[in-house]
Amino acid sequence: MRILLIGSTGMLGSDLLQECRSLEMIPATSRDADIRDAAQVRRLISAAAPDWIVLAAAYTDVDGAERDPERAFAVNRDGTRNVSVAAKEAGATLFYVSTDYVFEGASQRPYEPGDPVHPLNIYGASKASGEQAVQEFSGEWVIARASWLFGAARPSFPEKILRAAQTQPELRVVNDQIGSPTYTKDLARAILELIRRDARGVLHITNSGFCSWFNFAKEILRKAGSSTPISPISSAEAHRPAARPAYSVLSTAALAAYGINLRNWQDALDAYLDELRRQGKLP
Ligand SMILES: NC(=O)c1ccc[n+]([C@@H]2O[C@H](COP(=O)([O-])OP(=O)(O)OC[C@H]3O[C@@H](n4cnc5c(N)ncnc54)[C@H](OP(=O)(O)O)[C@@H]3O)[C@@H](O)[C@H]2O)c1
Repeated sequence: MRILLIGSTGMLGSDLLQECRSLEMIPATSRDADIRDAAQVRRLISAAAPDWIVLAAAYTDVDGAERDPERAFAVNRDGTRNVSVAAKEAGATLFYVSTDYVFEGASQRPYEPGDPVHPLNIYGASKASGEQAVQEFSGEWVIARASWLFGAARPSFPEKILRAAQTQPELRVVNDQIGSPTYTKDLARAILELIRRDARGVLHITNSGFCSWFNFAKEILRKAGSSTPISPISSAEAHRPAARPAYSVLSTAALAAYGINLRNWQDALDAYLDELRRQGKLP
């Protein structure tokens, strides 16, 4: 089984590469192929001749996408279409990683994979267009939506909170957005297990449980032994360029049907903090 990993330098991509173990994985970066360039993508995929392609490359700057929608759509919609077309030509199954931000956040219960998408921001709209491209242009595919990723390969929310706690007298964190923080190592393992099981269709992969960003930050500080005061604020008070869903908890029932259940986000956070300690980023 040969897997071509597009986006191997990213936060999730780095963990996929580390966790692939017995599976043969060919890593590809934006230097090997800019996914916006159909010819580069076709060359990469036909040379690798993979059974599976994991597309972990994306334009992921949620606020940046509001300022530069053309770039977000060029990477997340057109780039995904290029990969989908080339995957079909090569007879490879495409595993597309998507996001909870395709949903608007008005639900009273966890979102099911088949619920209608209605993105609130440009990033979410560009990823929803990527999902459409996968369904329209690739042959065999999986679309896996994840949420609130944190991982040690790149600075993510917990690391930013810990840094801010060292430099600011008090932290103010949004308390009116609810979601499921997800450790990229756990996500990577689930993706590889789904590939081993030859999965298909749309499903959701998150750590279990949910919280607000404020509660997530409070738990990060508590577990790291920080005494920096923290207070809740509203999204309106945060003045971020991109609107975000108030509630984007994803149902993982379809994942559980494959016998895959991820630990709760608090235990995953412990494992992540241990990883930071091993890297010398945390005392
Ligand atoms: N971060 C989150 O909270 C979150 C939440 C839900 C879903 N997701 C989804 O999960 C996936 C992984 O996210 P992540 O946070 O791990 O991403 P990330 O750390 O921002 O990494 C993005 C990757 O995409 C590559 N890339 C960007 N533009 C490219 C282009 N034009 N051509 C080729 N490669 C390009 C980057 O390569 P270079 O470094 O070489 O540019 C990098 O390897 C994405 O599909 C994202 O939408 C993320």
